[in-house]
Amino acid sequence: MNNDRFEVATVAELEQEGMKVLTADGQPIVVFASNGGFHAVEDRCPHMGFPLSKGTVKDGILTCHWHQARFDLCSGCSFDRFADDTPVFDTIVDKGIVYVYSQPRRAPDAAYFSQGLVRGMEQNSGFTIARSLVMLRRLEIDWSTIIRQVAQFASRNGNSFGTGSTILTIVTNLQPRLTEQTMLFAMFRAVREIAGQAMNAAPRRPVGPLTAGDHSMALLKRWYRHWVQSRHGDAAERVLLTALHRQVLETGIDKAIVDLIAGAATDRIYDSGGHLLDNVNKVMELLDHVGWEQAEATYPLLTDVMASGRGAEESSHWHHPIDIVTPLRDVEARLPELLAAGAGKTWQDDDSLLPTLLGDDPLAIIAVLEDALIAGATPLQLARVVCYAAGLRLARFGLSNEVGDWFGPQHAFITANAMHGILQRCTTPDIARGVFHNAIAVYMDRFLNIPPAALPGEAGGLDHLSTDANELLAAMLDALDRKDRTELLAELVSRYVELGHPFDALVDRLMYATVREDVNFHYFQVLEAAVSQVADQPHTPHAAHILAGIARNLSAICPTARASLQLITVAARLSKGERVHEG
Ligand code: FES
Repeated sequence: MNNDRFEVATVAELEQEGMKVLTADGQPIVVFASNGGFHAVEDRCPHMGFPLSKGTVKDGILTCHWHQARFDLCSGCSFDRFADDTPVFDTIVDKGIVYVYSQPRRAPDAAYFSQGLVRGMEQNSGFTIARSLVMLRRLEIDWSTIIRQVAQFASRNGNSFGTGSTILTIVTNLQPRLTEQTMLFAMFRAVREIAGQAMNAAPRRPVGPLTAGDHSMALLKRWYRHWVQSRHGDAAERVLLTALHRQVLETGIDKAIVDLIAGAATDRIYDSGGHLLDNVNKVMELLDHVGWEQAEATYPLLTDVMASGRGAEESSHWHHPIDIVTPLRDVEARLPELLAAGAGKTWQDDDSLLPTLLGDDPLAIIAVLEDALIAGATPLQLARVVCYAAGLRLARFGLSNEVGDWFGPQHAFITANAMHGILQRCTTPDIARGVFHNAIAVYMDRFLNIPPAALPGEAGGLDHLSTDANELLAAMLDALDRKDRTELLAELVSRYVELGHPFDALVDRLMYATVREDVNFHYFQVLEAAVSQVADQPHTPHAAHILAGIARNLSAICPTARASLQLITVAARLSKGERVHEG
């Protein structure tokens, strides 16, 4: 782009008026007369885009009046951490006329915005994060580069694999299905969450691997589980890092590592309401994206949740009125022989387990899963059946329950999906215990299906709805603008699915609908779990039920104030040269 010069005013005029605003090559510039010279900056505050021409200059310091960010007028550098530096433009006086050049003295490039993204995360500055993301994408920096940078920041600055890293992994998993705008919004939510958590995180005190000794993986596994069980985080982390050095860093991801970590995560029953298993799964998914060479930096983030977890066996309602813990521990002990009994056989899922899984007899639930294993069902197959049962809990959630009651079935569905993901990497008796735990978690939520909501179309079909994909997608957003459209939304989603419309467009619409609301990370988790469960069969009745269930879950809290995307929306508009705050 040419660095043309534009006439501003005569020297006398500018000195008398103090400043002048003009548009040069489409961008707003304000030129100030100050301390005997002329200084030009972009007429948008780098904090939130308000016009700097409305600010005040005193002794070479420009103050933006919106949030009082202050800048050195000569260099554009900010005196306040919460605001970025502002671009400056050269001026020249020629025959009594002040001119300004249309290109900034230092044109911000990808490196600048990449540093800005880190700065924004360090300072938890929403607008700096938003602007950096928008500009990095405008400069055609690919998402994988941005994701890697954010993940590395989270590893260095967080002290656990928190909600921000979970959302980041979800967004990364879904990115190929999302439009640019939805991805930008979703990424912004992830990065802001990570920045907020890093801001409040106590510094980690990392430990290293054991420095000598030829420890077998079997020994390291025993030690790891022992330290996790006894809640000795530092010791658990040292053992884990030792195992990682042996297995992952030398040979890449190894089933022994998955067994070590996921096996420890299933020692306690339904640990931390299922969050631990989801964390374990998400760490591996994130490493798939950013590279397993990051394992040594990323895995220790699990230490805190691993060592501080609380199992369902510590909750009285898993013991009373029916003791479910003892039968679970019994079947866990039999798992090696159950898996051996089913080896070599084939088993076909025909939904026949569902009535029992959704019934009110926990011992019968354990028994049908046990029988299925003997008949040749793999833990992976059963994990999927349990996940579908968990999805039906959401699909049939009775709306007379409280909004907070969605919490239980959300967790059961998320955890069942995590179990399914982990078992795709590795199946061992230790990990397979989680299938039984999750089935009982689904049982625990049985009263939330009383009375059961009808599945979409169950009473009268869906032919009253449009057949047009775009109309259905538009109607979904409309339904979320009202508080009483939960069942309509479920019907719209089901209709879309049964008609075989493009799956990715539906995923994008549901993600957009989620990201625009002020919702917590559970809503991202259930969406991604649903996508993960139905992606290979997106137009079946099972898919319709699962997707309708998570849509109902979202609808139950919509609409919210929808404040989460204000900054990224403003940043995107400003990047296109739109005047946002001038009125
Ligand atoms: S300080 Fe300028 S917009 Fe906030």
